[in-house]
Amino acid sequence: MNSFSVRTRIMTGGGLETLAPKLHRVFIVTDGFMSSSGKVSYITDELDKAGAEYRIFDKVKADPDIATVTKGVDTILEFKPDAVIAFGGGSPIDAAKAIVFFAAKACDMRDCQFIAVPTTSGTGSEVSRFAVITDPEKEVKYPLVEDSLLPDVAILDAVLTASVPPSVTADTGIDVFTHAVEALVSTAANDFSDAAAEKSIKLVRKHLLTAYREPENMEARQGMHNASCLAGIAFSNSGLGLNHGMAHALGARFHIPHGRANGILLPYVMSFNAGCAETLTPVAKRYAKIARLLGLESSSVRQSALNLIRTARKYVEQFHIPSSIQVAGVNKEEFEAELDAMAEAALADRCTATNPKPCTKEDILQVFRKAYIGKLP
Ligand SMILES: NC(=O)c1ccc[n+]([C@@H]2O[C@H](COP(=O)([O-])OP(=O)(O)OC[C@H]3O[C@@H](n4cnc5c(N)ncnc54)[C@H](O)[C@@H]3O)[C@@H](O)[C@H]2O)c1
Ligand SMILES: [Zn+2]
Repeated sequence: MNSFSVRTRIMTGGGLETLAPKLHRVFIVTDGFMSSSGKVSYITDELDKAGAEYRIFDKVKADPDIATVTKGVDTILEFKPDAVIAFGGGSPIDAAKAIVFFAAKACDMRDCQFIAVPTTSGTGSEVSRFAVITDPEKEVKYPLVEDSLLPDVAILDAVLTASVPPSVTADTGIDVFTHAVEALVSTAANDFSDAAAEKSIKLVRKHLLTAYREPENMEARQGMHNASCLAGIAFSNSGLGLNHGMAHALGARFHIPHGRANGILLPYVMSFNAGCAETLTPVAKRYAKIARLLGLESSSVRQSALNLIRTARKYVEQFHIPSSIQVAGVNKEEFEAELDAMAEAALADRCTATNPKPCTKEDILQVFRKAYIGKLP
């Protein structure tokens, strides 16, 4: 059995002005920067006009942890909203999803509308059934995967992303590319998730570099915002793969931003999946198909797959993303000390389950070692 669904209503270029008059008590989840910089007025101005009451919960930090979610659950249960607005990058959106998910264990939240307003173009969390929460003590990132986490509405307004600094544009842009690639080769991919992922990857090719170099180019910003959302639709249905399983393990231990961890690992994971160092696997053919989409086709499957891996590598260079875990500043002794636990966490990660090539702990250890020193075939 295979299925595909998009539950979230997607509004582009705004939309809050039409939703706000129907809202009465709104719980806004955001991070400290979005709140202190005044950017949250994008939401509160409309709520003020509509006369709605609201409370701002701005305690979310990058990679939201269990303690923040617990604090959020206490606050939401006390405030009793009829709507939640998640405003920010993937961190506030994931935190808001987890807060509603756990609050629903104590109180009926089914009538509480969930509106996601992304301000980065990366995670696709505004349309995905995923929320990633970190346990800092165990140094593990847990992806919750539930239909009940799907937002009711996503507002895609690229104007909000014009202030995203180039390094965050790079990290989040590589995250989009990784989502699309992993969705296209996932064991649970189907024609419908492929359609969303293919469009996403074409938009990334067209707009990512411009969005990075010209932050205020709104055509490029909207292109990347749509690409991020389309990749979210794709992977929410198809699942992801080993790259995300390893990125969660690496990011949780060494505090590397999510998209950057994906970008560092991507060429090494693709090389493993394609069997570039030994015998080509059937995944190489699927990478060759993606290369064709990007106009990188060559006469042989090996060369086409390699061209796609080189494109991932080129992105890493162009966006000044570290080319290896070592270059990212991870000390060798600390890396070695954490390696075994990271491989186990990556193997157990829910994202790894849909990787197109079955993998063992030994395989993951090898990919991590190659990604540490920067060794590609
Ligand atoms: N739920 C999912 O489907 C999914 C998918 C991938 C990743 N994730 C998770 O999402 C999180 C990463 O999200 P992210 O990459 O969007 O980063 P983020 O939300 O942590 O934001 C990164 C930084 O950018 C800043 N920022 C956000 N919007 C801005 C703007 N408009 N202008 C200026 N600065 C801005 C934030 O304040 C923060 O400092 C990770 O925890 C990751 O595990 C979730
Ligand atoms: Zn991701």
